[in-house]
Amino acid sequence: MAQIAVIHGPNLNLLGARETHIYGSMTLAKIEAALVDAAGAEHGLRCFQSNHEGAIIDFIHAAREWADGILINPGAFTHYSYALRDAIAAVKLPTVEVHLSNIHTRESFRHTSVIAPVAVGQIAGFGWRSYLLGLQALLDHLHDQKQP
Ligand code: DQA
Repeated sequence: MAQIAVIHGPNLNLLGARETHIYGSMTLAKIEAALVDAAGAEHGLRCFQSNHEGAIIDFIHAAREWADGILINPGAFTHYSYALRDAIAAVKLPTVEVHLSNIHTRESFRHTSVIAPVAVGQIAGFGWRSYLLGLQALLDHLHDQKQP
């Protein structure tokens, strides 16, 4: 049984309506429903979206008290938020970074992730399924960590 904090950064509340040729037509609510489904009864998810850097940082700090790991799509904060990176490093919760689009094939400012160095790993380019792959990777990682 693992407790996972699922975090979505800025503009991801507009998924399904926003640049659908890049991000697809799934809404955030549908993605979260698919994640809850995938987690099953065995694991607990708490989902949070904010357009505000400080609110995300507060959520990460609070996750110290209850979460075993973090699944995060930091949106554009990926590329420049040292504060978000420091928060993840500070709480020391295993973190998987996900992106719907392949950030490495897009504009050059998206090629850098300041989050990746404090994450277990990054999954990008599989549309909404990046979240599912990221959740599975995080759960597997947490499971492996528990082995003696
Ligand atoms: C994104 C990629 C980011 O560059 C962008 O700012 C987003 C979404 C993705 O999921 O592909 O908001 O994180």
